[in-house]
Amino acid sequence: MRLFTVLLKNTKKIEYYSRFSPSPLSIKQFLEFGRDNACEKTSFMFLRKELPVRLANTMREVNLLPDNLLSQPSIKLVQKWYMQSFVELLVWRTMFFLDILFLFEIRNRHNDVVPTMAQGVIEYKEKFGFDPFISSNIQYFLDRFYTNRISFRMLINQHTLLFGNDTNPAHPKHIGSIDPTCNVAEVVKDAYETAKMLCEQYYLAAPALQIQEFNNKDKSIQAVYVPSHLFHMLFELFKNSMRASVELHEDSKEGLPPVKAKVTLGKEDLSIKISDRGGGVPLRKIDRLFNYMYSTAPTPSLEPSSTVPLAGFGYGLPISRLYARYFQGDLKLYSMEGVGTDAVIYLKALSSESFERLPVFNKSAWRHYQTSPEADDWSNPSKEPRDTSKSNYKANR
Ligand SMILES: Nc1ncnc2c1ncn2[C@@H]1O[C@H](COP(=O)(O)OP(=O)(O)O)[C@@H](O)[C@H]1O
Ligand SMILES: [Mg+2]
Repeated sequence: MRLFTVLLKNTKKIEYYSRFSPSPLSIKQFLEFGRDNACEKTSFMFLRKELPVRLANTMREVNLLPDNLLSQPSIKLVQKWYMQSFVELLVWRTMFFLDILFLFEIRNRHNDVVPTMAQGVIEYKEKFGFDPFISSNIQYFLDRFYTNRISFRMLINQHTLLFGNDTNPAHPKHIGSIDPTCNVAEVVKDAYETAKMLCEQYYLAAPALQIQEFNNKDKSIQAVYVPSHLFHMLFELFKNSMRASVELHEDSKEGLPPVKAKVTLGKEDLSIKISDRGGGVPLRKIDRLFNYMYSTAPTPSLEPSSTVPLAGFGYGLPISRLYARYFQGDLKLYSMEGVGTDAVIYLKALSSESFERLPVFNKSAWRHYQTSPEADDWSNPSKEPRDTSKSNYKANR
């Protein structure tokens, strides 16, 4: 009985907090707050409402997933983590300051959310097979759920880095996790070198890197950005480009074609293009590369293995795109089958325009999960030669 009362109370709390929309911040705001004698109390006052609001919004949305998916053990585990963190945050709300160790604890509890959700999708797929309607719901949901997680960690990291004792001595100029003068080409090189190490371990060879910058000025292009996010995206793109290049050219006499990186800065966009000659991907399959349900192959094991593979769950691209979109950028692939692929990361050139892009739980989100698949409104070529004796009636799908 007592357990039931507690559950009911928590459900009410989640409902209450989910009625507030998350408050998105721009990189400029993060920066200005952190720079001007950042006040721990102000940050705490903001977080003690904003963190439960962001959690509650996403927790309400989890509940809209199909029951067959929700009943998978991995999904239940993730839900348990969220509930525990939500309840803990409400306890801290009543305190006068936010203990940084508590925040670490919450952040670490959620470390494995992505592979665990992926596992849940695999469990579901093994039992119920692939369904395009469910797949589109899962796609919609996971994009929003993982964006929420990125934002949640961003808020926690800003607070712990600004007010914790362990501020990073290697980067004294960083404001929390933001580098106000992030040298983009340097991050490109870093990500390349790290991917190269993996690639050489695995294939005993790796393509060279050529970097070009277009800026109309002499100095290198700088961004106000979270270098770890940029590194994450570039590292994933380099791993993909290297794998494709090596596998296509392994036996060719001319050697490996280099991977090219182009960094450009315009008035609105800061763009980074990574081009390879790895043979490309047919157009028909491009969208699929960003699809969580297509990608999750059950092969990679969750156990830590001795050799780190160059490819994993197939979550490299979709998650990287979320990082790009999180601050109003994007990530796109342009491929020419038979030749190679260009991947472009777009970032906002101005930190005042890089607002967090956050999912909101509301009626129109809710509606997304309810609409049933409609009959296709484009013609469908039949596999069999047409039998003219039957009328070409419209199936009511
Ligand atoms: N540059 C590229 N050239 C050719 N194929 C690519 C490239 N980038 C991605 N792909 C294809 O897209 C798939 C998904 O990529 P990704 O999301 O990074 O997941 P993973 O690398 O774990 O498979 C890859 O397995 C590969 O088949
Ligand atoms: Mg990859």
